[in-house]
Amino acid sequence: TKTHITVDREFTVGPVPRRLFGSFVEHMGRCVYTGIYEPAHPNADENGYRTDVLDLTREMGVSIVRYPGGNFVSGYHWEDGIGPVDQRPRRIDGAWHTIETNAFGLHEFAAWAKLANVEIMEAINLGTAGIKEARAIVEYANHPGGTAWSDKRRANGSKDPFGIKVWNLGNELDGPWQIGHKTADEYGRLAQEAGKAMKLVDPSIELVAVGSSNSHMSTFGEWEYQVLSHAYDEVDYISLHAYYQEHDGDALSFLASANDMDYFIESVISTVDAVKAKRQTSKSVNLSFDEWNVWYQQKGDAEDQLHMVEKAPWREHPRLIEDTYNVTDAIVVGTYLNSLLRHGDRVTIANQAQLVNVIAPIRSEENGPAWRQTTYWPFARVAELAKGQILRTVTSGDKFESKQYGDADVVDVSATHDADAGRVAVFLANRGLEESADVTMTLRGFQAGRVTRAEVLTVPEGGNRFTANTEDAQDAVGLVKLEDAAVEDGQLRVSLPPLSWAVIEID
Ligand code: AHR
Repeated sequence: TKTHITVDREFTVGPVPRRLFGSFVEHMGRCVYTGIYEPAHPNADENGYRTDVLDLTREMGVSIVRYPGGNFVSGYHWEDGIGPVDQRPRRIDGAWHTIETNAFGLHEFAAWAKLANVEIMEAINLGTAGIKEARAIVEYANHPGGTAWSDKRRANGSKDPFGIKVWNLGNELDGPWQIGHKTADEYGRLAQEAGKAMKLVDPSIELVAVGSSNSHMSTFGEWEYQVLSHAYDEVDYISLHAYYQEHDGDALSFLASANDMDYFIESVISTVDAVKAKRQTSKSVNLSFDEWNVWYQQKGDAEDQLHMVEKAPWREHPRLIEDTYNVTDAIVVGTYLNSLLRHGDRVTIANQAQLVNVIAPIRSEENGPAWRQTTYWPFARVAELAKGQILRTVTSGDKFESKQYGDADVVDVSATHDADAGRVAVFLANRGLEESADVTMTLRGFQAGRVTRAEVLTVPEGGNRFTANTEDAQDAVGLVKLEDAAVEDGQLRVSLPPLSWAVIEID
């Protein structure tokens, strides 16, 4: 297939938001326990953090981590996770049918975040708790001292405030599955009042209102409009969540699923801005895509199906939704990152869900190794190399048809320009299953000289599009050198193998 892309140094979307490279740690399955935290593991440090997982998190370039849920947060009381560990209550977590020991809580997460070099994004419970708990946690986390809650934090070992800037006002409260599910009116008023009270404690915080759990919710659109009609003045972002998977061997629809992400983002921008116009305000509300990923929610094996979870006995940190990702999944994750970057003027926070074990780029075994899934690589490279300004990309060329998401360009792209380093980074996905893609890219206004890095993730020799990294074959799929990418007369030329994700850096 053939694709031509044009970028122009002057035609930019906006600066690359660092918070676009976020992740998510939920008290779910083995994300916390035996994921980031396993005191008995040979690689654990003195605080019980797994250093192998910490190393991979840092290497991946994660910038911000949402915590502690997810559906979990709607039944969670944050005070259960502070104070002497042996006095913390064991609780039932209804969302995931799990026993929560509370051995890990806010202090443990804050100390881990420091080591991982990530910002904290803290979600509060607006399912079963309310304004009182919301104010208290902001005072506990951010007030320097001299008040009951801030002195409690100091007594619990953290003299310095945690300084948490970004807060989620609850989780997926539009979803009937959520503990404390609400109508848009009920939620909009609560978000407004909780947000107001939190900002009275610390005016410097940024608040994320709950948006739709996916673009197919029957309340999508109306939910955002109603919620923001109440809470527009108090909030700074509205959230979006989306998970995709391949259904019944329909690879083309799966490969085109970033079309839905584009549609979802653009629809939410329109709705947010409609509220802005109605209120005749100059204040803008941005988008926080704080859960996104591939998630095989529908698949054959019973144990992993969430409806089976409820029938299982009550357990601590059971194995939940530990999807193993293959080559195709990695290419698709690359297209989601492209979609987020292309909308980086309005989507200024995004969190891949989740960080380790639970639909995650990193896997770890109890008392065993930690390794990178295929989907780790596009995330790590984009987080490393997308710097400076996002460039507008204009694509012409071959398209393919998909049953679920309509037509899509065979080659999906995003690009950034780091003026300080004098570098352009291009992220390309060839969604052609069988054919390689010949790509040319005109770099207008650049004195583009040479390709300094060209890497590709594709089907490995002897493998197929379902090849994955497993405990026994941890490096089956990874990035390899992409040959023959070259710049001539201001034009990049490259040939991408079938079903591949590539990064090219030009100086
Ligand atoms: O990430 C897994 C779950 O997906 C989260 O707990 C919830 O918010 C979403 O439905």
